[in-house]
Amino acid sequence: MKLEKPVHKALNEQINKELFSSYLYRSMSAWCEAEGFPGCAKWLALQSEEENEHAMKLYHYILERGSRVELEAIDKPKTEFKNLSALFTMVLEHEQKVSASITALYETAVKQNDYPTQIMLQWFITEQVEEEKNSNEVVDLLKKVGDSPVSLMMFDRQLGARTEK
Ligand code: FEO
Repeated sequence: MKLEKPVHKALNEQINKELFSSYLYRSMSAWCEAEGFPGCAKWLALQSEEENEHAMKLYHYILERGSRVELEAIDKPKTEFKNLSALFTMVLEHEQKVSASITALYETAVKQNDYPTQIMLQWFITEQVEEEKNSNEVVDLLKKVGDSPVSLMMFDRQLGARTEK
């Protein structure tokens, strides 16, 4: 059963959104590294890799369904950020946007009676709950630690402890 046009289009668009997320977090990681926050840079680099994996999951799924993958240009991400707090708030807001996009994609699959795509997207729906929770926790933690150089250094060390994608 080939993908119906609206589902096919939305899946290809979602690949682009996941690749943009990967690009955005990589750009944020570079900024953190340059600003002397190697722990945050590591956290964001892992996040960037995870987003690339999300894109690849969709990529393989489209091919498994016997349809074409159509890669589009990736937008230029921001390269400058006011401070860590602004940066991580942007991560959280970005994840909320991605969640909305996954929900819209799921609704398209429901409208088209595409059950395999709905099942595949359940993984993404669960994942988005996790992604929003993680970025929310980082934003909350930053609020608590304040902005003194010592507390930011401790915050950076804590984020650097992340080992898993
Ligand atoms: Fe792939 Fe963070 O959403």
